[in-house]
Amino acid sequence: MTHQPADRRIMPDDLPDSVEAILAGEPDLIANAANVAALLFEALPDINWAGFYFLRDDQLVLGPFQGRVACTRIPLGKGVCGAAASARQTIVVPDVHAFPGHIACDTASASEIVVPLVVGDRLVGVLDIDSPLPDRFTPRDRQLVEQVAALLVRALPA
Ligand code: SME
Repeated sequence: MTHQPADRRIMPDDLPDSVEAILAGEPDLIANAANVAALLFEALPDINWAGFYFLRDDQLVLGPFQGRVACTRIPLGKGVCGAAASARQTIVVPDVHAFPGHIACDTASASEIVVPLVVGDRLVGVLDIDSPLPDRFTPRDRQLVEQVAALLVRALPA
């Protein structure tokens, strides 16, 4: 990977190229997920959590993240993460307090986006990003976060 000087903040539109650069030549999911969480946290303004849950048996288990301590296990179908995982579809929640069953890991969170990670027909986990601002995630953010998730999945060994 190329090193970003400390004074050069990564901009949201830089994310796909930056993610591709850090994933190049590294197949390990945990290492890559850790760096992707760090990149997202640095590049996206007004977020308070960015990270991963991975499917272990029938539960989502906490993976690498940036932000405050989070709940470690989420059953499929529960919360925004479990709902996105079960549906295998991105869920954008403009107001988490209006989402039935939302799991409040950080009470500061007001809006959220969760993108499932799917390899072929296998659910691997989810990418979850929270914001303290209501309605933080635009269609452009959704596109970027889905692109980042697709790059991470593509970097996994077949
Ligand atoms: N809010 C999520 C739980 C994970 S935390 O936000 C990190 C949910 O409802 O699934």
